[in-house]
Amino acid sequence: MVSLTADMSPLHPDRNLALELVRATEAAAIRSVPFIGRGQKELADGAAVDAMRAFLTTVNFDGVIVIGEGEKDNAPMLFNGEHVGTGRGPQCDIAVDPIDGTSLTAEGRNNALSVLAVSDRGSMLDASSVFYMDKIVTGPAGVGVVDIRLPVAENIRLLAKALGKPVDELVVSVLNRPRHARLIEEIRASGAGTRLMSDGDVAGGINAARHNARTDMCIGVGGSPEGVATTCAIKALGGHIQGRLWPRDDDEKQRGIDAGLKLDDYVYEADEMVTGNNTIFVATGVTNGELVAGVRRDGDYTYTESVVLRGASGTLRRISSEHLTSKWL
Ligand code: FBP
Repeated sequence: MVSLTADMSPLHPDRNLALELVRATEAAAIRSVPFIGRGQKELADGAAVDAMRAFLTTVNFDGVIVIGEGEKDNAPMLFNGEHVGTGRGPQCDIAVDPIDGTSLTAEGRNNALSVLAVSDRGSMLDASSVFYMDKIVTGPAGVGVVDIRLPVAENIRLLAKALGKPVDELVVSVLNRPRHARLIEEIRASGAGTRLMSDGDVAGGINAARHNARTDMCIGVGGSPEGVATTCAIKALGGHIQGRLWPRDDDEKQRGIDAGLKLDDYVYEADEMVTGNNTIFVATGVTNGELVAGVRRDGDYTYTESVVLRGASGTLRRISSEHLTSKWL
């Protein structure tokens, strides 16, 4: 049951914070407009990072970036461990992804998002020392039903049964990468269809967990930070997510162990990636996608569409904004 008093504590991210955070993802999306389809992903990302950081400094919270743009020396802004916000208000962990889908943005392709996720201080897993994570995401029907340890065909069969659909009506999204060639074959051999994504498995995961979405499961190896950020959204959707770190070599595996991460096929459940349900996930469309429309500049106005997902209340809200373009020039 939704608690009406849960937001009274200044320690937790509250519902008003969600609106403040949207301003930061909107700003990142708006600042990326000149770079959409221009082939320069670093410039797009840089503009989004600058804008997101500028807005985050004005937000009344005491945020620590757990999942950022990298270590301090490589990324001078929004680095892991950086404090953002005014320092007043709730103490939070933050995951930032000013653009998930920098290549999509540079190429003008669908599904790029600007993303921020927030949870209670100390609740977010810092998985950044291992770049990749093997993940499985479904909607609520998959909870207690699918398991990343099972063969994909078995998960598809179990999910189809739980959804009351024939297997051949299921659609599974997967990043289109050579590492997934066998996985894609196995999905198709099971009778299900595939939706191959060129990038952007945060949007892919959320779409798979939403009711009435066109995909039923999102599976495969993508970024670890993206996995933790996606978990904040999945909590609001009541869906299923599990992750297994996927080091590329022994050195990376050792770095993960040194950082206290669990490897050797250890399965991280949602509650170990992000403890508790006090999560806020916000995303603004950079390019068009199934989840949100992309930012659009049309003369005097720039239009953005965002979603806000709150774990505490289990809500997904949409925010459509019209911005006077002149204020952004
Ligand atoms: P970036 O926008 O940060 O490049 O991430 C895009 C993305 O597709 C993520 O959504 C995904 O988790 C990851 O890259 C997959 O990594 P790779 O492209 O190396 O397979």
